[in-house]
Amino acid sequence: MQYRQPPSFPETFLWGASTSAYQVEGAWDEDGKGPSVQDVITHPEGTTDFKVTADHYHHVEEDVALMKQMGLRAYRFSIAWTRIIPDGDGKVNPAGVAFYHRLIDALRAAGIEPIVTMYHFDLPQALQEVGGWANRRTVDGFVEFARVLFNEYGTKVRYWLTINEQNMMILHGKMLGTTLLDGDAAQRDLYQQNHGMFLAQARVMILCHEMLPEAKIGPAPNIAYVYPQSCDPADVLAADDLNAIRNWLYTDLAVRGRYHSTVWAYLVEKGWEPKIQEGDMETLAAARPDFLAFNYYTTATVAAPTGDASDESTRPGDQQMTRGEIGLYKGVDNPNLPRNAFGWEIDPIGFRTTFRALWDRYHLPLLVTENGLGAFDQLADDGRVHDDYRIDYLRQHIEQMRLALADGVEILGYCPWSAIDLVSTHQGFRKRYGFIFVNRDEFDLKDLRRVRKDSSYWYGRLIATRGESVNEATPEYT
Ligand code: BG6
Repeated sequence: MQYRQPPSFPETFLWGASTSAYQVEGAWDEDGKGPSVQDVITHPEGTTDFKVTADHYHHVEEDVALMKQMGLRAYRFSIAWTRIIPDGDGKVNPAGVAFYHRLIDALRAAGIEPIVTMYHFDLPQALQEVGGWANRRTVDGFVEFARVLFNEYGTKVRYWLTINEQNMMILHGKMLGTTLLDGDAAQRDLYQQNHGMFLAQARVMILCHEMLPEAKIGPAPNIAYVYPQSCDPADVLAADDLNAIRNWLYTDLAVRGRYHSTVWAYLVEKGWEPKIQEGDMETLAAARPDFLAFNYYTTATVAAPTGDASDESTRPGDQQMTRGEIGLYKGVDNPNLPRNAFGWEIDPIGFRTTFRALWDRYHLPLLVTENGLGAFDQLADDGRVHDDYRIDYLRQHIEQMRLALADGVEILGYCPWSAIDLVSTHQGFRKRYGFIFVNRDEFDLKDLRRVRKDSSYWYGRLIATRGESVNEATPEYT
C-alpha cells in the first residue's frame, strides 16, 4: 500500500543504537569478572577473540560522549552476567555493579535512555559446566541475577530486555556457544535449554512487574519473516513451518505463554520435546511482556523439501542464512534481493512485512533492537570513514519502518546494530557495523582511536529532524 504522506515519527521515538557486553567491552577478566561461554569458545581461524574487542570498558565516558554528539536518544547494551555474579549464582561482584552504574549514570546525564539486555549469549561458564539452561539451577541463577539488576538499576532504567535472540541460540547453538554436542543429542539438549530460558524469562518478567511497576520489559528474538519460494502450496506450507519453528515459537511463548501447537508436534515427532515439570506451564502462562523487541537483518526464503539430504543446502548457515531441514523445508536464495559482503540478503520491504506480521499477531508495541549492515569499512586518507553503503541500507529500512507506522503498527524505537565497531559473533572485527569506527585490526590493536563514520552524521541529522531528512545527503562534518 502507498501513502500520500506517511506520518512523522513520534516525538518520544527511541532513536538509538545497540551493542552487547561481550562483543564491545573487552576487559574480559578484569575487576573480578568471571568467564562466560564466550571467553572459552573456539574462534574460527583468522578471527580475533573477545578479550579486548572495542575496549569499551576502558573508554566508557568517551564512548557515551560520542553517542551524545551523535544525538542518540537511546542506547541498548547488555549487562555481562559474569561481571555482576562471576560464577553465575554465587556472590555479587561490587566492581562489576559499579561499572554499569557509571555507564547508566553517564547515559542519563547525556539524556540517553538506557535499554538493558539482561542476557546476550554470554552464559557464565560455571553454569554451562553444570548443564547450562537445561539445569534449573541456571534458571534460578538468572532470576537472582535479575533481582540484583532490578535492585541496583531499577530507579534508573525503564526498558529491560530479557534474552537476546533465544531462537538463534537454539537454531545455531554450535556457533553461538550454546551447545558442544552434535546430532540428536544436541537437539534434545537445546530444546531442554530452550524450555529453561522460557521459564527464566517468564519468571523475570513477573519479577520485574512486581519490583518495578513503572518499568517495561520484553524479549528480543531475531525475527526473519519466511517467504515461500513460489505459490506452490507445498512451498507455502514449508514457509509456514519455518515461520513457526524460527519465529512464532519464541514470540508465542513470551506473549501467549504456551507452545505453538505445530512446533510442539514437530518436537514430539523428532523426539526433542523438553521435559516439562509440574507448574511450568502455569508459570509461562502467568507472564506477559509490555512490548516485543526484535532484531531484524533480513527475511528467509524456503522451498518444499524433497525429503533427502539435498534439503540441507551447502551454505554455512547462521543467524541470517537458512540451510534447511530434511523433510521440512529447503533454504533457497531469494533472486529478488541483493546481498551484503557476507552473503546476507538485504530486504527493506521485508522489514515492513515483519512489523506487520508481529503487530497483527500480538498487538504489542514493537521495539527494533538490531538492524544494520556488516561491511569492511576503511579509514580513508582524509581520516574519515565514508560508509555511504551503510547510509543507503539504513535509509531504506527507515523508510519502510515509517510505512509500517503508516500501516498502524505501534513502534517504540529503532536501535541499529551497532553504536560502535565491535567483534562480530563469528566473523571477527573486520566485519564492522558501528556508527563509530574503532581503529584496530583483527589482531593488531593499534591505538583503538574512535572516529565517527559518515553514517553517524547522517543518523544524527535524521534524529534531529524526526526522520524527515531520511533522503538528504550526508551533512557536512561538524
Ligand atoms: C545478532 C546478534 O545475531 O546479529 C549480535 O544479536 C550480532 O550479537 C549481530 O553481532 C550481527 O551478527 P554477526 O554474526 O554479523 O555478528
